[in-house]
Amino acid sequence: MPFNNLGFVFKHFGSLVYSKPILEDLCLFLHGFTDTEIVLDIGAGTGMMSEFAYRCNEKLKYVAVDPAEGMLKYAPAYLETHVGEAEALPFEDESFDAVFMGESLHHFHDIDTALTEVVRVLKNGGRLFVYDFDKGTFLGKSVYLMEKLFGEPANFYEPDVLKEVLEGCGFSVTMMKHGWRYTVSASL
Ligand SMILES: C[S@@+](CC[C@H](N)C(=O)[O-])C[C@H]1O[C@@H](n2cnc3c(N)ncnc32)[C@H](O)[C@@H]1O
Repeated sequence: MPFNNLGFVFKHFGSLVYSKPILEDLCLFLHGFTDTEIVLDIGAGTGMMSEFAYRCNEKLKYVAVDPAEGMLKYAPAYLETHVGEAEALPFEDESFDAVFMGESLHHFHDIDTALTEVVRVLKNGGRLFVYDFDKGTFLGKSVYLMEKLFGEPANFYEPDVLKEVLEGCGFSVTMMKHGWRYTVSASL
C-alpha cells in the first residue's frame, strides 16, 4: 500500500477503525504504568495508537517507528519519530518498557524477525500491546483478501494462533476478542 501518500487519510479517518473496547483495552494495558516508562509504537503511521494512549497517560515518553515518512509527518509533536522497519528496529537492546502495534503487525513482511526485534528492544519484563483484525471472521477475511489484492503481506492471524506464536517468543499473553478485531496484552 502506498502509505507514504496516505498520511492525510490516516490522520483524519484512521481513528474510525478504533472501537471503544479497543481503547478500553489500551487504557487498561497502561494502567499501573508510572510516569517514567518509554513506549515504542511500531508501524505507528500517523501515531494514532499513541494518540489514544496519550489520552490515558500523557506522562509516558512516546517513540514511533515506521518506514513511511509520509505517515510520520502527521504525528503529534510529543511523539519522537524514527524512520525504520519492524524487522530492523533502529534502537539499542532493552530500550523500551512497552511496545504497541496498532493494525500494523499484518503489514510486516517477516513476522518472526519483527518479533525477535521486539523482544530485543524490550526491557526485562517489558510489555506488548497489539491490536489487529481476526482472520477467522468474515470481515477479517475480507480485509485479508483486499490487502492481498493490493500486494500487501497480509500476515493476519487468528487470535489463538498469534497467542501461541507470542508464547513461543517468551510472552505471557492475554487475548481479548471484539468481533472481527482483537487485542493482545502480553508481558515478557
Ligand atoms: C494500517 S497502518 C496503521 C498505522 C497506525 N498504527 C494506526 O493505528 O493508525 C500500517 C502501518 O504499518 C507500516 N508498515 C508497513 N510495513 C512495515 C514494516 N515492515 N515495519 C514497520 N511498519 C510497517 C505502514 O507504513 C503503515 O504506517
